[in-house]
Amino acid sequence: MAKPANAYVCQACGASGAKWSGRCDGCGAWNTIVEERQLAPGSRAGKGRAIGLGGLGDDALPAARLTIGMAEVDRVVGGGLVPGSTVLISGDPGIGKSTLLLQVVAALARDGRPCVYVSGEESADQVRLRARRLGLAKAPVQLAAATSVRDILATLDVPDAPGVLVIDSIQTMHVDSLDSAPGTVGQVRASAQELIRLAKRRGTVLMLVGHVTKDGQIAGPRVLEHMVDTVLYFEGDPSHRYRLLRAVKNRFGATDEIGVFEMTDAGLEQVANPSALFLAERENPVSGAAVFAGIEGTRPMLVEIEALVSPSPLGTPRRAVVGWDNGRLAMILAVLDTRCGLAVGGKDVYLNVAGGLRIAEPAADLAVAAALLSSMTDQPAPERTVVFGEVGLSGEVRPVAHTEARLKESAKLGFTHALAPASRTRREASVAVTEIARLTDLAALFDADYRA
Ligand code: TYD
Ligand code: MG
Repeated sequence: MAKPANAYVCQACGASGAKWSGRCDGCGAWNTIVEERQLAPGSRAGKGRAIGLGGLGDDALPAARLTIGMAEVDRVVGGGLVPGSTVLISGDPGIGKSTLLLQVVAALARDGRPCVYVSGEESADQVRLRARRLGLAKAPVQLAAATSVRDILATLDVPDAPGVLVIDSIQTMHVDSLDSAPGTVGQVRASAQELIRLAKRRGTVLMLVGHVTKDGQIAGPRVLEHMVDTVLYFEGDPSHRYRLLRAVKNRFGATDEIGVFEMTDAGLEQVANPSALFLAERENPVSGAAVFAGIEGTRPMLVEIEALVSPSPLGTPRRAVVGWDNGRLAMILAVLDTRCGLAVGGKDVYLNVAGGLRIAEPAADLAVAAALLSSMTDQPAPERTVVFGEVGLSGEVRPVAHTEARLKESAKLGFTHALAPASRTRREASVAVTEIARLTDLAALFDADYRA
């Protein structure tokens, strides 16, 4: 019987063809076609074994989690790492992934757990130098520089496999059953598959570093995200020292938690009280800024929002947003225009969330509106005041969750007033709340010059 030809399969749309091409005819994507080995028709890899079936209510042992002892990481992964699970940490080159993982693995190894760090990017000596700089040279971490998955499995797929295995990075790993170069979709997928199988079989926590491509995706069109249990993004503005660890997928915990770190000469330092970081220190109040009392996951966080509204020389005014949703800004501008009678249509609008943070909460609406109004009227927002509330299309301000936690955090940082929707659950007495029921109430505070 003739040997079956291998198929060339697009990793984006699944279309399959008889020969390789740079562009998929099915979906038009570039560089997504990968050779896949075919079994001969009718050939079987032997008869399957019967699998054991059980009920949902059968006894299940809750997996004992490995706590790292770094509170910012533990919280993001949902209270510790689950044995046998795989965590993918991805981020831009140079953001600090290797640094973070070296610190994590050193913290885990201190408890006497066998931990292995495999670097495919740096030599063992480079990693040692970094460890020395971080003051971790004494941590009992086993270190290796390797890129062959077969070698890694031969060494570590043994009964006393390590409790934690770090692979830095998955794009440098390769299996020899595929011809393609390391970093291609096929290699990344096959390498990850083999390593994940090892982790499941031996109960090892596998931590993979993944690079992000220019358009912000983990290289290897999302294949990795589906294969692993937890996906963490490590992000931050390279011009700032703050780094955020964010869970975007987690089979063992919530996905809205963030961990905050500061990059220092001695590695990443955890920031237990991030609010102070995201507030600008200034002596005289300026116009065009408002402090938003937000919630990230379970933690309240105060952030400064800055806006600049200026007359536009262009036919189509500019709208530039950093750290917030473009569509949401367009909505707030439309509500200010239609419901409050403020002409913003012909103006350039710039919006910036301080410190490189990204806000996803609708509760930021009112703070954004306050920053915009403050810039438009050239009046500073009221002093020592936080703002929060969701704005509806009709201009009404809707209550948001966690009012109490927001006010407590504000009081802790020395704020004495809040502009917020009415709330029945409020008890925090040290912050005086001015209730804002409609966006026009907020505009009135700024003596907005209607139809100016
Ligand atoms: P790194 O962990 O190598 O990033 P990644 O693995 O994501 O590519 O970190 C690289 C940057 O971090 C580098 O520009 C230097 C900086 N850095 C510090 O500022 N302090 C430190 O203690 C360390 C180890 C790195
Ligand atoms: Mg690195």
